[in-house]
Amino acid sequence: MEIRILEKEEQQSIYDDAYKMLEAADNEFVPPLSSRSSSTQRNFSENLKSRDGIRQYFEQLKNQRFAVAYEDGALIAFVSYKENYSSAEIHKKELPNIYISTLIVSPSARGKGVTKALYGRLFSEYENINIFTRTWSTNIAHIKILEKYGFKVIQVIKDDRGNGIDTVYFKKVHK
Ligand SMILES: CC(C)(COP(=O)(O)OP(=O)(O)OC[C@H]1O[C@@H](n2cnc3c(N)ncnc32)[C@H](O)[C@@H]1OP(=O)(O)O)[C@@H](O)C(=O)NCCC(=O)NCCS
Repeated sequence: MEIRILEKEEQQSIYDDAYKMLEAADNEFVPPLSSRSSSTQRNFSENLKSRDGIRQYFEQLKNQRFAVAYEDGALIAFVSYKENYSSAEIHKKELPNIYISTLIVSPSARGKGVTKALYGRLFSEYENINIFTRTWSTNIAHIKILEKYGFKVIQVIKDDRGNGIDTVYFKKVHK
C-alpha cells in the first residue's frame, strides 16, 4: 500500500476514481451525499434532493487537499481536508488548522488498517496544528477510529441528521 498527500497540481489524477468511489458509497453516508450541497453543509434538514447532488458535493472537494491510498497503483481510499477552516463550530482562534471533511475506503479494502495508515500520515504531516472533523453519531466505525487517535467531542448538534442521529464535532488533542 502507498500513502501520499497529493500536491494541489496532481489532484486531478484521482478525480475520476474518487468520484466513482463516492457514487458507489452514496447511501453509506448519513444523509446520502447525493442529497447534500457541500462537505461543510450547515443545515441537513434542507437537503437538495438533486440528482446532481454528488457532483455538487464533489465540486466542493476539488477545492480541498487530498491524502490518498493506492494498492497496486489503484486508488483504494482517500481523505479530503480543508486548510485553515473556521465556522460557527470552529472558532478563528483555532487557526492554523485542518478540517477533515470526507473519508472513504473502498469496501473491498476495509478492515485492513487503511484508515489507520491514511490518518497516521496526515497526523504526522500536521502534528503541530489543530485538527478537526465531524461525523454522524451512528458512524461507529469512524468514531472508534477518532477516539483511538485522541479526538475529543467538542460539540453535538442533536437530531441534526434525523431522529436520533446527531452531528458530532471532534478536535484532536495532541499528546
Ligand atoms: C469508516 C471507514 C473509513 C473505516 O475504514 P477502514 O479502513 O475499514 O478502517 P481500519 O481498517 O483502519 O480500522 C480502524 C479501526 O476501526 C475499526 N473498525 C473498522 N470498521 C469498523 C466497523 N464497521 N465497526 C466497528 N469497528 C470498525 C477497526 O476494527 C479498527 O480498530 P482496531 O485498530 O482496534 O482494530 C470505512 O468503513 C468507510 O469508508 N465507511 C464509509 C464512509 C464513511 O463512513 N466515512 C466517514 C464519514 S465521516
